[in-house]
Amino acid sequence: MSDATIEVYENEARRFPPPEAFAAGALVSDRSLYEEAEADYEAFWARQARELLTWNQDFDTTLVWDLPFAQWFVGGKLNVSENCLDRHVAAGRADKVAYHWEGEPGDTRTITYGQLLSDVEKFANVLKGFGLAAGDRVAIYLPMIPELPVAMLACTRIGVAHSVIFGGFSPTSIVDRCDDAEAKLIITADAGWRRGAPSGLKSAVDTALADGAPTVEHVIVVNRCDTDPTMVDGRDHWWHDLMAGADDHCPPVPLDSEQLLYLLYTSGTTAKPKGIMHTTGGYLTQVAFTHKYVFDLRPDTDVYWCAADIGWVTGHSYIVYGPLANGATSVMYEGTPDTPRETERHGDRSAWTKDRLWDIIERYGVTQLYTAPTAIRTFMKWGVQWPDGHDLSSLRVLGTVGEPINPEAWMWYHEHIGGRSCPIVDTWWQTETGSHMISPLPGVTTTIPGTATTPVPGVFAEVVDQQGNTVDVGGGYLTITRPWPAMLRGIWGDPQRYFETYWSEYPGRYFAGDGARVDEEGNIWILGRTDDVMNVSGHRISTSEIESALVDHAAVAEAAVVGANDEVTGQAIIGYVILIGGFDDSPELREEIRQHVATKLGPIARPKAVNVTPDLPKTRSGKIMRRLLRQIAQGEEIGDTTTLADPSVVDALRASAE
Ligand code: WTA
Repeated sequence: MSDATIEVYENEARRFPPPEAFAAGALVSDRSLYEEAEADYEAFWARQARELLTWNQDFDTTLVWDLPFAQWFVGGKLNVSENCLDRHVAAGRADKVAYHWEGEPGDTRTITYGQLLSDVEKFANVLKGFGLAAGDRVAIYLPMIPELPVAMLACTRIGVAHSVIFGGFSPTSIVDRCDDAEAKLIITADAGWRRGAPSGLKSAVDTALADGAPTVEHVIVVNRCDTDPTMVDGRDHWWHDLMAGADDHCPPVPLDSEQLLYLLYTSGTTAKPKGIMHTTGGYLTQVAFTHKYVFDLRPDTDVYWCAADIGWVTGHSYIVYGPLANGATSVMYEGTPDTPRETERHGDRSAWTKDRLWDIIERYGVTQLYTAPTAIRTFMKWGVQWPDGHDLSSLRVLGTVGEPINPEAWMWYHEHIGGRSCPIVDTWWQTETGSHMISPLPGVTTTIPGTATTPVPGVFAEVVDQQGNTVDVGGGYLTITRPWPAMLRGIWGDPQRYFETYWSEYPGRYFAGDGARVDEEGNIWILGRTDDVMNVSGHRISTSEIESALVDHAAVAEAAVVGANDEVTGQAIIGYVILIGGFDDSPELREEIRQHVATKLGPIARPKAVNVTPDLPKTRSGKIMRRLLRQIAQGEEIGDTTTLADPSVVDALRASAE
């Protein structure tokens, strides 16, 4: 894009907020929030905690900070499910819709706060029936169906921590996560709908339990797709049978503010995923705060849609906990927003239409849409224009998350979805931060395509150079300078790794792992990961996880993986492998190796390409030069190769990539 075009776009975007976009009422937020947080940020968060949540016992100390360990709202007691459900029902909103749920095939369910509470109480009793109590861990491996938030909230009701495992992960991933957390029970479904067909989940759990995860004693199975899975006597139980016999009264347990709420595993720079720990009071405060202010939420009238999957942190914080704590009405959809809509028969792709997103927005009158740049770029690629025939005028705020959004995609979102009248909130945050950290507030912060702008009130970020000096204008590394309520409390079972990964690189600061640039106005432009973590369709995958899956294949001696720029998915996984002597390169073998990774880690980790090479580019000290591999994968000019032990390897690599 030329500089002139960007300037036109920037000028256009700078007109925000246009007053007409907010004709419906005064803005939820204003500048005073920033001033208040700047003046005394602990007092600011204490006020938010008391105003946004209901406490069974008030806290006496806002923050205890003993780097790297933070405790927020110490001495306070509360229950997450009570905050998300009971208090709304008690306030007379039992009939208010919590979720307009829509399955991928188009089936729908409307779930009110009253119904959700009743299901959560019953399921909490089911969990108790299996002997689970505060402090235990449960794994959840479900598709995007209402039983997923029910299961999560039922855990919170009795103090059991959940570990949600994304449905696209493999049996090996299930074993690793259950073993690490010592999960006692798994909640799953026979299958979920995925691109026109049921995709099995129970079968993956069966494979996992045949191989390992010895701590798991019971499996609860939701019948979503009628695929008639095998049920193991004594171990496996149908959700509907258990619920039919469950009492619907289960009082919420008042829990310590620092009680473990959940574990969510995420990729780091080693092959072993990290169990990120989130706790109760601080997490719920910050997700409720950001959900309200970043999305300019009017809970009585809005219909909010976060089109993420609950298997990732975005869904935890902005489909389940934030919206429910605020008593909002959400859309919850089983597929991805770029899943075409089937108008005729299942599986006949020629009959699918590509207006799924507009169709849902129009039918439910969605006011806030929160999605990822990869989905936006898919629509751009499809060539969809301002969706004529669909009325999207209900939209008021558009959100984006997961990866840097390129200015072209930002403008397309702004024009074709937002009809040029919705502010775009580009929200930077991580599994570890639990909650939005850097984002504009609609109508308050001037937006510019491509920048997440400035930290939300109560969050303090700085870009630093390699030595840790603050960069006022220019590029460097993104750090957070003070603890925040929703911050991770640690890595499950590995306090040392927690300290080393996040708090040792720049002493006194949290290091996010992202590169960033600050402009003259102080806006923060996120440039992406600086470590060996890739971002594929907004999902974090580590290069070393894939490398270890590659070398696990019988034919592979050595492997290196890079994320190459990809028009739609942001980055694409490209593997380079050296074969063990005796194996010959062939398209079939490469395909088999790709499939091996998918089987080990799950379909999302399948490399886009695997190239066979006689050698890998290494420095004289033996370190693989990923930069070079990336440049080759992207078909770019190769930079300096003088540090290579054997410069001739470059030609061989080029040949293998063709
Ligand atoms: C990237 C997802 C640019 C970043 C919530 C971060 C972003 C990683 C943005 C966390 C954004 C997330 N702009 N980059 N608005 N949001 N990222 O843990 O590299 O799945 O470190 O959390 O995604 O990914 P995670």
